This record gives sequence, C-alpha cells and structure tokens, in this order.
Amino acid sequence: MRYGYFDDANREYVITDPKTPWPWINYLGTEGFFSLISNTGGGYSFYRDALYRRITRYRYNGVPMDDGSRGFWIREVDGTLWSPGWKPARTPLDAYECRHGLGYTRITGTKSGLEASVLFTVPPGENAEVQNVTLRNAGEAVRRISFYAYVEFALWNAQADGENFQRNLSTGEVEVHGGTIIHKTEYRERRNHFSFYHSSRTPDGFDSDRESFVGLYEGLAAPLRVALGDSGDSIADGWSPVAAFRHDIDLAPGAAVELAFVLGYVENDPRDKWAAPGLVKRDAAEALIDRVGRPDRIAAAMEDLRDYWDDLLSRFRIDHPDDKLERMVNIWNPYQCMVTYNLARSASYFESGIGRGLGFRDTSQDLLGFVHQIPEKARERILDVAATQFPDGGCYHQYQPLTKKGNAGIGGNFRDDPLWLIAAVSAYVRETGDWDFLEATVPFDGGAEPQATVFTHLQRSFRQVLDNRGPHGLPLIGRADWNDCLNLNTFSTDPNDSFQTAGDGEGRVAESVFIAGMFVLYGRQYAEICRRTGRRDAADAALKEVAAMEAAVVEHGWDGQWYLRAYDARGGKVGSAECDEGKILIEPQGFCAMAEIGADRGLPETALESSERLLGTDHGLVILWPAYRDYHLELGEISSYPPGYKENGGIFCHNNPWVVIGETVAGRAEQAWHWYTRIAPAWREDISHLHRTEPYVYAQMIAGKEAARHGEAKNSWLTGTAAWNFVAISQHILGIRPHWDGLEIDPCVPAEWEGFVVERRFRGDSYRITVRNESRSGGRGIRSLSLDGRPLRGSVVPPVGDGGVHDVEAVL
Ligand code: GLC
Ligand code: GLC
Repeated sequence: MRYGYFDDANREYVITDPKTPWPWINYLGTEGFFSLISNTGGGYSFYRDALYRRITRYRYNGVPMDDGSRGFWIREVDGTLWSPGWKPARTPLDAYECRHGLGYTRITGTKSGLEASVLFTVPPGENAEVQNVTLRNAGEAVRRISFYAYVEFALWNAQADGENFQRNLSTGEVEVHGGTIIHKTEYRERRNHFSFYHSSRTPDGFDSDRESFVGLYEGLAAPLRVALGDSGDSIADGWSPVAAFRHDIDLAPGAAVELAFVLGYVENDPRDKWAAPGLVKRDAAEALIDRVGRPDRIAAAMEDLRDYWDDLLSRFRIDHPDDKLERMVNIWNPYQCMVTYNLARSASYFESGIGRGLGFRDTSQDLLGFVHQIPEKARERILDVAATQFPDGGCYHQYQPLTKKGNAGIGGNFRDDPLWLIAAVSAYVRETGDWDFLEATVPFDGGAEPQATVFTHLQRSFRQVLDNRGPHGLPLIGRADWNDCLNLNTFSTDPNDSFQTAGDGEGRVAESVFIAGMFVLYGRQYAEICRRTGRRDAADAALKEVAAMEAAVVEHGWDGQWYLRAYDARGGKVGSAECDEGKILIEPQGFCAMAEIGADRGLPETALESSERLLGTDHGLVILWPAYRDYHLELGEISSYPPGYKENGGIFCHNNPWVVIGETVAGRAEQAWHWYTRIAPAWREDISHLHRTEPYVYAQMIAGKEAARHGEAKNSWLTGTAAWNFVAISQHILGIRPHWDGLEIDPCVPAEWEGFVVERRFRGDSYRITVRNESRSGGRGIRSLSLDGRPLRGSVVPPVGDGGVHDVEAVL
C-alpha cells in the first residue's frame, strides 16, 4: 500500500494520507539553521548543533507520536478546530497533501471549502525557518475564522531541557513586541543569542506562556485558547515559553490571504547585546525579518533553493527508461547523501540530537557519496577528521563538530577507523585530481599546530593496521570494527556499561577478516597514492604487505564456502559453518569480494553465492545467519538484540551495497541489480505499510527474516547506507567511476538494458556519456570507448580540462 506518490518533475514526494505508518520527514536548511519537518508539520529546529542550540522542543517517543514544537489551528465560528496538516487538531480534512521537496515542504489541508496551505523553508543563507501561509476561501459564503500559529521554545541545551526541571521551570523569559515574540531565556547571563517567532500581520492576540495557551490538562489537539477562540496575552515568566499568535480573518468567497511567520535565530555582539536595560537588542532580528518575513519574499528564496539544487544535482544525472532508477539517482539518493553529510548521525526521528558527535568512520564514508557534489566541503571535513588521529595512526572513534576535539568518553581502538581515512582521501583525489592535498598539513589528536601532511596520516593509518596483527597475521579488531556491536574484547556483564567501552578493549588475539578485506582494498589505493607521488619504494612495500594480507585471508580467513568473519579473544571462529549460530556474516563477503581476495580460486563468487543462499531475502540481505538466540559474553552487543533486529540478523542496509559492488566486480550484473532493488526505497514504495519509513530515503535497518516484523524498516535518513548505495549504483552498476587518470567507464548492467545516458560533471568539464549495451551480456567490460568521436584505448576518459561539454560513447 502507498501513502502518496513521486512527483519527479517537481522533485517532490507527495503524501496524500496524513496517517503515514510513521511520520515521514524532510530537512530544511543546509548551513546554520536546520529544521526537521514531518508530513503533518511535526519536528523541530536548531542552530548548527542539535544538542547545544536547540530552538524548539520535541518530545521523542511521545504519545501521541510527533506532537509539539509547531502548530497551526483554524477555529471556525461554530467552534470546529482543524489544522492544515491534520495534526495537531486531528480533525478529519476534506483534502490533504504534503509535498516534501528539496529543502522545503508544503502542506495543504482543505475543510468545507477553505484551503489552508503552508510552505516551510529555510531561505539559503538565512538563520530562519519561514512558514508562508495561504488561506483561500473556495466556498460560497464569507468565512470567518481565527488562525493560530504556535511554536514551543526549547531551553537551548536539549539534554538539560529534558531533565533539569528544578532550574528550567524558573528561567524562561520572553519579550513581546507586537508581532514578534522573543525567546531570551538565559540571555541575561552567558548567552548572546536569542530566537524569535514573528508574524507578518499584526496579531489580534498572542500568548507566550504555554500553560496560558494550551492549558495544563488540555492537549495540543485542542489548546485551551484555541477552543475558546481568544488569547491570554500572556507573558511567560519562568515555566515554558512559547509563541502563539491569533489572527481573526474574514474571507469573502473567492478571497485569499497570505501570512508569513518567521522562526529566527540571532547572535549579538556580547559587548553590545542590549537595546536598553533588560531589553534585547533587536536590530539583527528586524533586519532578518525584513529580508525574509514578507509573503512576497518567499518566491525569491524558493528560486535560490531551486538553483542550489539544480547545480548540485546536475553533477550526476541519468536518463533511463526506469522511473524508479531515475528518481533514486537524480533526486533522492543524492539529497539524502547531502542531508546525511550535513547532519552526520545527530538529528532525525531516530537520533535525538543529543548523543554522538561525528564518527570517524561514519564521516569518512558519508563523504564517498557526497564528494562529487561539493568537493571543497569534503576536503575541509577530511582535514577535521584527520586531525583527530593519534600519531600512531589510531584515532578517536568520534569527535565533536563544535570543538573539533576527539571524544574521550568513547576513546579509540576501533581498528577499522584508520583505513576509512584512506578511502576518503582516495575518493577525494580521484574526484578532484587535487594531488596537492596530500601535502596539506594537519595536527594530531586535536592539537592546534599542524604536525604532519595528509600523506603522513595515510601512512600512519596503513602502519597502524600492520603493527596490530594477531596470531593469524590478520588485523586485530580492538573494541570493534565497522560492526560496532561485534565486541570481541569487551566482555560486558554490567547492564549499566556501554558495550563498546566496557573492559580495556585491547586484546592481542581477536582478529577481523573484514578489516583484512578493507586493508587489501584500500591498501592498494594507498600504494597507488605512493606511486603517483613519487614514493616508489613505499608503493612496492605496501603492495607486498597487501599481498601478505591477502594470503593470510585465503589461508586463515576462508571457511570453505564463505569468508570467515573473525577470530574471537580465545582464537575461536566467528562466522563459520562450525558455529551453531552466526555461521555467516555479511561484511567480509562484501568487502573481500570487492577486494577480489582469492579471485584466482573463485572465492568471491563462492562467497557471493553463499550470501545469496543463506543471507538473501525479498527485502535484502541480512547481516548474519542464524541470529544469536542468547547473549554471548565473548561477542558482545551483537548478541544483545532480539533475533532479526539491528546487528543481530537485521538487514543492515549499509552493507548490502558492498555485496552489490562485489557482484559487479565479479561481473554478475543481474545479481547486483537484484540486490540493489531490494532495499532502494523507490522499489519499496508499494509496500509502505510494511516498510513504514519514508519511501524516498534509505533506512539503516529493515527487520530480518528471523524477526516477527520482517520487512519493517527503522532508522531512516542518517545512515552510511545513503553514501554506499550511491557509490554502488553510480560507480559500479552504471560504472562511471572517478579514476586517478580521469573518468573510468565500466558498467555492469542487466542484459535486458538497452543502455543509458549519464551527464557527469568532472574536474570542471561536463561529460555526456552514452552507454549502449550491445553485447547484452549481463557482465562487465566495454568493447569500445570514444571521446568527442575519437576512439580511446582502455576504459578511462582522460580529463579534457577546457571547461566544455564533451561526448563520450561506450559500447558494451
Ligand atoms: C551504525 C554506526 C556505524 C556502524 C554501524 C554498524 O550505523 O553509525 O558507525 O558501523 O552502526 O554497527
Ligand atoms: C548501537 C547500534 C549501532 C551503532 C552504535 C553507535 O550499538 O546498534 O548500530 O553503531 O550503537 O554507538
């Protein structure tokens, strides 16, 4: 069952039933001011940091779900209350539509001939959410209504906001100036910032104290004042500051009225923050309102937004008969990559915005899906990430974006982390050709002074793995590798522990075959970087180590029908046919196939076939099988989840694309395409009732075959899944891949495809790449390639460098 449809021409998903199986959200803002907004108008806003600068309040896991933060109500003279987005009033509407677009959302509700439409966006470059309301009377009679608009302010620090009530309930402060309500809690002391809510029309009444507006025992479906049809004109003094405006409006038949509301954030100079004793200096707020707060200003903002996305999305565009493929590649997957890149794992409907900082490995992988859109941003982020590395090549698992310091609480010793830096730098250099980047200097360990070049950081990453090998010559796993929950050295018995930081996490025995796969794949790229920067000896030495690692995997990391996952702290096998549970785990199957480990003996194909047989489902490949039934002290968190969920047998969408890529490396297009289309949201739209999360973005997890709710997704939006699937489809199935020497054209597409056209911007030029599938082989390999009519040898198009548009033709 569907709850809407894709409007590809407008790059929107249109929701036609407000009662989606889970709130379906969108993100507004790309720079400083961010908002989450659901299809009924739920969500919240923050400035840069969802923990320290929370602007509006959101109650996670609430009952009812997704109430609070924003609200609009229309009160009819007969006392009927309704909301344009159905919630919070929940009065049935005659018509409802929510259009989630790129950086904006438009929600429209109609009741008895009155159409109320709200367009939400964050105008590019501004620290504000603008809400443009249009009320149109399509009926025959004059319509007399009161329109209420409301936000609930959070007390900045989102964590304290939800716990420190002995203080919070006494600190709230506001100022009211006509159509502007200023939230200035804590401004009197150490804050120089405030937020405000503004209405473009002079209100007929207002409230700034929540209890006066909502009531104490009433709910948001029918707040006290809205039910009464009046306002309390209240001034918050402690308790809970809100901003609510009432507009009494008469609409003649056919008439329409437009209103603009602005939720803004302003920082003042600490030495000049008062207009008069006790009164906030409002100049910057007024200027902001002036720029964005009139109904006629929204069109310009929408145009800027469209230009911004036109530019970003024009960097990779496919023309193909399959609408689902087009909408994933051209719109939604790159959009999700951008959102994930901006927000890391901080704020979604599954991430509360108060937890983790930026992950070393998460950020490095997010970059893989994003680097072609804004390479400069990727470059900056790599420098930040590298700066949290230790001199020995190890690194902090997470760092705080505001301070750029490593997070001491979680520490380091996740032994896959260093290799992701090689992956990120390699992707950046292949995209941009910016070899000078390797000589840029960066500090270690969050220091202030640049201490070593980016190249040195890579060298240390590589060495870190080599210097930490276990009894079988395979990399030690430390606290965990990519799978945060496979904790082979932590032995947690205390329910109050974090699984990942329990114990000392050291351990010189437990080894990871997955890290070995990464080492082989990224070690080759590292060797190539050495060679191309004139470090021939280092390149040769690195390749020898890579070969040794490959041999170690073939000898000790192959289980007979698939790659082993790991050795535990006692040297026991993890992910082997000999195990009772967890016989096969997906990560090494994908990664070692990508790295072609043991290809001369056909190991990748065997591993991929075993994966298909044992891990495959109609909803994608589960992470392991069979799931662990009991808690295993020696395995850690992985066995803590009920069978079929998360790392214990869920379909962890992040690593399905590794298998997809592995399939293309093995030249098996049908399988690659099959797995790609199992988890890609556009193909799951028809089963939205089962899938439950948004049909336009990937979720981190879909419940696996051993779960009661097999096929149900959770944790949508902020997941490395977005980046990896974009890599899988664009670089490996479509096969348009940044190469050191140019753009490599190496598709692996199903036999039935006739071909496709991709427009790709690359190092300043535009390429129009036409691929014709003449062989219909369902495998890999091009027969001919030409650039602007001239035949080329091999599969790489060298960059032209004239900033022009060039035609590439490839025949398979
Ligand atoms: C989460 C984490 C990621 C980890 C994965 C598997 O998605 O963000 O770092 O690799 O889970 O445990
Ligand atoms: C939990 C999750 C895992 C995530 C980790 C992050 O272990 O299961 O997916 O990576 O938390 O800290």
